[in-house]
Amino acid sequence: MTGAALRVGVIGVGRMGADHAQRVAHRIANATLVAVADPDRVRAAELAAQYDDVRVFADPLDLIADPRVDAVLIVSPGFVHEEQVLACIAAGKFVLCEKPLTMDAASSLRVVEAERAGGRALIQVGFMRRFDPEYAAMKAMLDSGDLGRLLLVHNIHRNKDVPAGFTSEMIVRDSLVHEVDVCRWLFGEEITEITVLSPAPTSYAGEGVVDPQVAIFRMESGALATTEVFAKSGLGYEVRCEASAERGNVTVGLGSGVFVRAANAWGGAIPDDFRARFATAYDDEVQAWVDASRRGVVVGPSAYDGYAASVVCEAGLESLASGSPIKVVLS
Ligand SMILES: NC(=O)c1ccc[n+]([C@@H]2O[C@H](COP(=O)([O-])OP(=O)(O)OC[C@H]3O[C@@H](n4cnc5c(N)ncnc54)[C@H](O)[C@@H]3O)[C@@H](O)[C@H]2O)c1
Repeated sequence: MTGAALRVGVIGVGRMGADHAQRVAHRIANATLVAVADPDRVRAAELAAQYDDVRVFADPLDLIADPRVDAVLIVSPGFVHEEQVLACIAAGKFVLCEKPLTMDAASSLRVVEAERAGGRALIQVGFMRRFDPEYAAMKAMLDSGDLGRLLLVHNIHRNKDVPAGFTSEMIVRDSLVHEVDVCRWLFGEEITEITVLSPAPTSYAGEGVVDPQVAIFRMESGALATTEVFAKSGLGYEVRCEASAERGNVTVGLGSGVFVRAANAWGGAIPDDFRARFATAYDDEVQAWVDASRRGVVVGPSAYDGYAASVVCEAGLESLASGSPIKVVLS
C-alpha cells in the first residue's frame, strides 16, 4: 500500500470497541474508520452516526468480506475471535485482535496454523502493555544489560469492578493473560509452570468467584514471577510491575503524575479503568498496527504470542481448579 490511508473496520463496539473506533477516527494517522459491525445493530448504528461515512454491519463476516475494508480491528468477545480471525486470514486482511486471541490452546493453535498455511503474517494480538511508555522503558532498561540478569518480577493487577457475570476463569483468561504476556516479553523466555492460588476472598467478590487470585509463573531459566489479580478491588484500576535484577530493580505503574493538595488531603488520582491508564499504550499500539499494515508487515505481539498465552492460561485454569502447579507445554 502506498500513500492511501488504511481503511479500518471495527468488529464489536462495546466498551473497548467504542474506544478503539474513536481512536481510529480521531487520533491515528493514516487510518480512516470506514465500517463497524456488531450483532447489536442499534449500538453499531448509534456509534457509526458519530462519524462521517461509516458503514454498519450486523454480521461481522460481511464487514471482513467488504472490499472497501483494508484491515480489521476485532474487539468482540473472546469466544467469537477464532471465527473472525480465520475469516480475516482467508480474506488476506491485516487484523489487530484484542486479547485473548481465542478461548483455549487448541483454537489458538488453529489460528497460528491457518496463518502459517496462508504463507503471510497478518495477525497482531492486543497485548498493549508492550506499547505503554513505562513498560517499554522498563524493557529497554532490562535489555541494555546495565542492571544484570532479570531474576524476579512482581505484578499487581487490580480492577476496580468488572461487568456482571465475570467469573473466576475470566480473571485468568481476561486479566492475568496480560501478565502472562508481560512476563514472556520481559524475560524473553517461555513460562514452564503456573500455579494459581486462592487467597482469602474479598467480600466484594461475585457469588462463587475466586477473587483475588495469586499466580506464580516459573520461567525457563528458573526465574519466578508473581501476580496479584483482583476483579473487584473497589478502589480503582491499578497496574504495577516491579522487575528485580542482579544490580537493581525497575518499577512501573506508581501513578506518580499530578500531585494535588486539597480538602485536607494530598496525593494523586487512581483511574477508574484501563481506558484511562493505558490510553497512550492503545494509541501507540493501534498506530504501530496501522503503520505496519500499510507497509505490508506485522509488528508487536504475534499470533504465536497469543497462542502461548492461551496455553499458559489453560494451565492456569487447571491450577485454579486443583491448587497445584501445572506444567506448560507448547507445541
Ligand atoms: N486490551 C485490553 O486492555 C482490553 C480491555 C478490555 C477489553 N478487552 C477485550 O476487548 C474485547 C471486547 O471487550 P469489551 O470489554 O469491549 O466487551 P463488551 O461486552 O463491552 O462489548 C462487546 C461487544 O461485542 C458485541 N458482540 C457480541 N457478539 C459479537 C459477535 N459475534 N461479533 C461481533 N461483536 C459481537 C457485543 O454486542 C458488544 O457490543 C474482549 O476480547 C476483551 O478481552 C481488552
